[in-house]
Amino acid sequence: MLKSLRFLWQIFFLLPVVTIASELIINIENRNNKSLNGQWNVIIDPFENGYYDYRYKPSQYGYFRNAKPEKKSDLIEYDFNRSPSLRVPGDWNTQSDTLLFYESTIWYKKSFDYNKKEDKRVFIYFGAANYHAIVYLNGKKIGEHTGGFTPFNFEVTEKLKKGSNFIIVKVDNKRVRGGVPTLNFDWWNYGGLTREVCLVEVPEVFIRDYMIQLEKGSKEKVKGWVKLSGKESNQGVTVQIPELGISESFKTNGKGLAEVSFNGNFKLWSPQNPKLYQVIISSDMDEVRDLIGFRSIEVEGNEIVLNGSPVFLRGISIHEESPLRDGRAYSREDSRILLEWAKELNCNFVRLAHYPHNENMVRVADSMGILVWAEIPVYWTIEWNSEETFINARKQLSEVITRDKNRASVILWSVGNETPLSEQRLIFMSNLAQFARDKDPNRLITAALENHYKDKNTVVINDPLGKYLDVLGCNEYIGWYDGLPGKCDSIEWETFYKKPLIMSEFGGGALYGFHADTLTRWSEEFQEDIYKHQVSMLDKISFLRGTTPWILKDFRSPRRPLPAIQDYFNRKGLVTEDGLKKKAFYIMQEYYNKKKRSLQK
Ligand code: GCU
Repeated sequence: MLKSLRFLWQIFFLLPVVTIASELIINIENRNNKSLNGQWNVIIDPFENGYYDYRYKPSQYGYFRNAKPEKKSDLIEYDFNRSPSLRVPGDWNTQSDTLLFYESTIWYKKSFDYNKKEDKRVFIYFGAANYHAIVYLNGKKIGEHTGGFTPFNFEVTEKLKKGSNFIIVKVDNKRVRGGVPTLNFDWWNYGGLTREVCLVEVPEVFIRDYMIQLEKGSKEKVKGWVKLSGKESNQGVTVQIPELGISESFKTNGKGLAEVSFNGNFKLWSPQNPKLYQVIISSDMDEVRDLIGFRSIEVEGNEIVLNGSPVFLRGISIHEESPLRDGRAYSREDSRILLEWAKELNCNFVRLAHYPHNENMVRVADSMGILVWAEIPVYWTIEWNSEETFINARKQLSEVITRDKNRASVILWSVGNETPLSEQRLIFMSNLAQFARDKDPNRLITAALENHYKDKNTVVINDPLGKYLDVLGCNEYIGWYDGLPGKCDSIEWETFYKKPLIMSEFGGGALYGFHADTLTRWSEEFQEDIYKHQVSMLDKISFLRGTTPWILKDFRSPRRPLPAIQDYFNRKGLVTEDGLKKKAFYIMQEYYNKKKRSLQK
């Protein structure tokens, strides 16, 4: 046993960071890009006949060739142009009733014209594709990506033709045991090209990535870096913040990386004042503009400290489902409405569960002044002993940190949710926590832990993973899965750690409009009663510094079939899928109002 654990440590610690897609380019929306969104022709391929031959070997005559009969006797048994189409961005499940439960492969094809420019490089960028994507350009494979919630890009400069081109993407959302997430999860397995697709045109040597944030613990010193596309050394890089009259120049080292540090008299970003500055990063050939807020976030004992002052995180958990239509959210508008519902609840914080949401969500949170908990789908019981699973989880963590590290709203990286205690799991997740800490020393690391009873009336937070976290998250369902609402009144909370706690899930289900007494399951009164008892229990927890009840909106889940009540929706929302408020919404709204007032005193 000890030998295998030692072996696990060695594996995880010494594993090189493997990259499949080319290094991520950040801040795509402010670059010169050509959208490929819109209708894409699709072939629904449950048996993956377009990929494997009848011996189940990858076939070289697959659908990626987009072959056409050249003479009347030719045998081609597929034709994208005469096939139906699906909207991109968008999950496929809610675009056609026949695809609602569909879990396998769909091939997407998009033809486009491109006018190549000599001195430019071109990348194809995907906001996300759930779950495994293989990408082909003009019949040639250009790369693949695993993980349904993070961006990836491939260079296509040499593969693009002048004039008409076609891109084909095989997207497969089959769940796999070694996956992240694994086979079992409580949300809809929306498949497809769920976020934007575009071509990004950049100069020969371009600004690929940068981190422009305040140094940990400082309110005026920026400490960061700018990474150029290649390993060009001694290249000039300038960071300007015109509003503050800042213009600082730096040189790249042998890896094309310029360390950046300078002081500024910043108006600090906060929920009360979500101040964003235009930041201009330029190099010899390239210039990128971004809107960045500057704030400091730390922990001191049980306190979460924002810009030097303790803060209580009045939050709500959210799944990435659109408030406007069925299915996955992806647009600025989706994000704005979801966050406005959260604001109506008097929130200053949201937990984006259980996977990285789209970039629009964190950019809108930046502008609306909503603090964010971001999470990767290390959810329930994944394969802790699998090297591949660890690499997959770490890559998803790496991709979301890369994409969102300049967002002031994002304060917490969560490395997982409700994962069972074991030595392997502890090694796996503590390594993820360390990876996040190394990659982004500025933010706080957390995870949603499970609670354990010390005795009948005492719950204790003693998960060994707590040692590796800055902030403890804990999910509890006292009053729903665990007893009836009144049980909350007799529960005391203890913790092993001198660290702040966020109660990352609590609540219960209710069918909107179903009214009865407080002991009738599924009635709004039962749910309301849970919240009444919960908030008075929560108020007694001395080390509690935030709450994100489960959940803002009723959401689709294949685990919830109860007819006429759930109908494949998890009904724990405080509002329905159409935004109708349940009685419990007002309990939480009032609780946060009271909290807000007490802290303003
Ligand atoms: C779990 C889990 C959620 C799930 C919720 C529920 O705690 O983290 O993903 O939806 O409970 O049972 O409703």
